[in-house]
Amino acid sequence: MKANLLLFLAAGVISFSACNSSQQNTGTHSDSDSVSKQVMIPDSSNYQATVDGKQVGLYVLKNQNNMQVAITNFGGRIVSILVPDKNGNITDVALGYDKLAGYQQTEPYLGALIGRYGNRIGNAKFTLDGKTYKLPANDNGQSLHGGPKGFHVQVWEAKKINDYTLELSRVSADGEEGYPGNLTVKVVYSLTNDNAIKIDYTATTDKATPVNLTNHAYFNLNGQGNGDINDHVLTINASKFTPVDKTLIPTGEVKDVEGTPFDFTKATAIGARVETDDEQLKLAKGYDHNFVLTNSSTELKQAATVTGPKTGITLEVLTTEPGIQFYGGNFLDGKLKDTKDGKTYDFRSGFCLETQHYPDSPNKPAFPTTILKPGATYKTTTLYKFSVQ
Ligand code: GLA
Repeated sequence: MKANLLLFLAAGVISFSACNSSQQNTGTHSDSDSVSKQVMIPDSSNYQATVDGKQVGLYVLKNQNNMQVAITNFGGRIVSILVPDKNGNITDVALGYDKLAGYQQTEPYLGALIGRYGNRIGNAKFTLDGKTYKLPANDNGQSLHGGPKGFHVQVWEAKKINDYTLELSRVSADGEEGYPGNLTVKVVYSLTNDNAIKIDYTATTDKATPVNLTNHAYFNLNGQGNGDINDHVLTINASKFTPVDKTLIPTGEVKDVEGTPFDFTKATAIGARVETDDEQLKLAKGYDHNFVLTNSSTELKQAATVTGPKTGITLEVLTTEPGIQFYGGNFLDGKLKDTKDGKTYDFRSGFCLETQHYPDSPNKPAFPTTILKPGATYKTTTLYKFSVQ
């Protein structure tokens, strides 16, 4: 009898560990109603496809702390970010889709690698060395995020270097989406053992061209699909921002944040002032502005810190860039299909912190230049680092 019981227990232990190892891409998360459910990376078979004659897949990076990040080479998209919360429960803090088709619908750049030019270029044109280049207008007569066939919908060549590093590369041909020059781009995503997603961007060109690469991950630090982000507490190390006109193109002014709802120099809840009577907030339906980092050096420096109070998960953003677009998810409307876990991405249910040069710089000579010339190398780094409070 005793022997039978022992055997039974041993079998239980074996089947438990077998089950665990077959679910390497999962974690458990206890909701407040204490119903335990698994937080998982989407099934990679949902991403296996040939698009434009190129192989698409899902790549999972892991570190020593059980943090995992899933990236697809379709648009270089961050699909999932699994981090432990203050109770050790694994939480997915990135908005995304559970299959490739999600990224192929008309959608707001979830997790995307953006290029050739992050954010807007006014009237979808710019003049460089005396020549005017016309870009496809995809946003109210403006060019947004590199155009309709920008880097976010291109299939990147993917090389998994090791468990924690993925290298993506492609050549954006001369004339692609209206831009001059063959641009050779390499983007390396690495997951560090201090729970940071490090993104290294490099590019070279054979003709002068504007370049402004960024990542458009939407975060919800309370867990993706888990309500709005109004309660998130944000600090941005910026004493100035660039106000916009009604088409969301910068007016050219660089304005002090002091005394405005744009002052995040001290930790403040995102929702605390978002509904105040402020012209800039009204124009953009909330926060959707470029902040000018107080430390403008090209060294890696702290740009922003955000905490989701329900999970205690904190995101720190470090970058070599001079600006950061804080976008509060004002265009999310709950209509996206194929969202992970069938969640609804409602108004302001995610935020982006897009490290970048300022929008419309090719038409704003007073802004730091975004022109890359032949012989020079474009090189920027951004870190999204996670911890718990
Ligand atoms: C950026 C822009 C926003 C919006 C989103 C995508 O962050 O600044 O205005 O276009 O991308 O919906």
